[in-house]
Amino acid sequence: MNTLQPHHPQQCQHLMSVTARPADVFVRGEGAWLWDQAGRRYLDWLQGWAVNALGHCPAIITQALQAQSTQLLTPSPALYNLPSLELAQRLCALSGFDQVFFGSTGAEANEGAIKLARKWGRTGGRNGERAARREAGAGAFEIITFDNAFHGRNLATMAASGKAGWDALFPPNMPGFAKATLNDLDSVHRVLSERTVAIMLEPVQGEAGVRPATRAFLQALRELCDERGLLLIFDEVQTGCGRLGELFGFQHYGVKPDILTLGKGLGGGVPMSAVLAQQHCSVFEHGDQGGTYAGNPLMCAVSLAVLQELSQPDFLAQVRERGQQLQEGLLQLSQRHGLGEVRGAGLLWALELGSDNAAEVVRACREQGLLVNAARPHCLRFMPRLNSTAQEVQTGLNILDEVMNQPGSGATESR
Ligand SMILES: Cc1ncc(COP(=O)(O)O)c(C=O)c1O
Repeated sequence: MNTLQPHHPQQCQHLMSVTARPADVFVRGEGAWLWDQAGRRYLDWLQGWAVNALGHCPAIITQALQAQSTQLLTPSPALYNLPSLELAQRLCALSGFDQVFFGSTGAEANEGAIKLARKWGRTGGRNGERAARREAGAGAFEIITFDNAFHGRNLATMAASGKAGWDALFPPNMPGFAKATLNDLDSVHRVLSERTVAIMLEPVQGEAGVRPATRAFLQALRELCDERGLLLIFDEVQTGCGRLGELFGFQHYGVKPDILTLGKGLGGGVPMSAVLAQQHCSVFEHGDQGGTYAGNPLMCAVSLAVLQELSQPDFLAQVRERGQQLQEGLLQLSQRHGLGEVRGAGLLWALELGSDNAAEVVRACREQGLLVNAARPHCLRFMPRLNSTAQEVQTGLNILDEVMNQPGSGATESR
C-alpha cells in the first residue's frame, strides 16, 4: 500500500541537495513506465540511468528477490554463498574472463580495477610476467585515462575521470592518472612513460554524451598494451550487460581488455557491480579487497536472473533491432528539425540539439510524459529498457517530435 503523503516542498530540506531534481515525486514503476504521486504516467528513457535493463520491477527480478529473501540475505563476505558462486561462474563463462570480485556500485568496481592494476604494476604481475615483458620491471602505477571520461564519484574514480572542473573540487587529488584524448593515439603516446601500468576507458563515453571510441582506436590500444606490457581496462558500467546490443561492449568492438568492470544493468535495479580479470592480472591476495556486501546473495540472485534473460536466444537481436529503430527515428527527427549528430549503439543514444537548450527540452519532454537526460547542455541521451517494444520507441519519438515543434524549443529556431 502506498502510504506516502502528497509531496510538500519542505520535505526536501532533509535530503542533501546534490543534484537538480524536478518537484515531482515518483512512486511506482512497471516496465517502461513510471508514475508520479499525482498519478501521471511517464515513458521512462532514463531507466535509473541505464540500470533497469529489463524495465521497472520485472517479474523475474521481483520473484528472484522474493525467493532469495526467504533463504539468505547477508551471511558474511568471509563465507561462501551459492548465488555468488553461481554468478561468478556464469559471468566468467559468458565473458571469457577468469575471476571476478563483486561490489555494489560502478565506482566501487572501478576502484577495484585501479587497485588491481596498481598491485599488478607493483608486484610485477603474476609470476613476475610484467617484469619479463618490460625492461623497467615492476614499480609502475600510473593509469592513462581520458578527457571527459566518467568512472564514478569516489576520490580515486573522480581523479580517473576527465570531467572539466573536477580537479578543483576536493583537493588534494589522488595522483596516479595521466589524461589523454579519446580516439587520439598520439595523445596516448605523449603521456606514456615508465610509470604507466594501464590504460582505462569506457568503450563509449556515456556521461560525456555518448561518445564512442572507434574500433581502430581500441585495437591500437590493445596492441600498445601488448607491446609495452600494460593492462587494458574497460569500464563497462554503462555499456555492459546488453546496452550496446552485445552482452558486453568489448564484444561489440571485438577487442578484449584484461580487466572489465560492470555495474548498472548487471543488477537490473539493485546495487550490483563486478570487476572481472583475466588470470594473469587477477593478483588480489587476502586482505587486498573486500566489502560488507561483496557478493551479497540477494543481489547475486537478481543478477543471475538478469543474465538468464539477457542470454535468451533472441534478446540481443531485439536490442539491436529496437536500437536501429531508435537511431532511424532520431536521424529523421534531426533532419526534420535541423538538429545535430545522432550517436550511439544498441539502446544507448544521444542527439545533438545544436544549441545549449537541453535542460528546457528535457523539461518539455517531461511535461509531455517522456523522461530523458541532458547528458550535456546541448545533447540529449536516451537509455530505454533493453526489452523496449517497437510501440514504446515510436511513442518516445513522437513525443520528441512534438516537443521539437513547440515554439521556443530552440530546435525550430535553428531550422
Ligand atoms: C561508465 C561509468 N562508470 C562508472 C559509473 C559510476 O557508477 P555508480 O554511480 O554506480 O558508482 C558510471 C555511472 O554513471 C558510469 O556511467
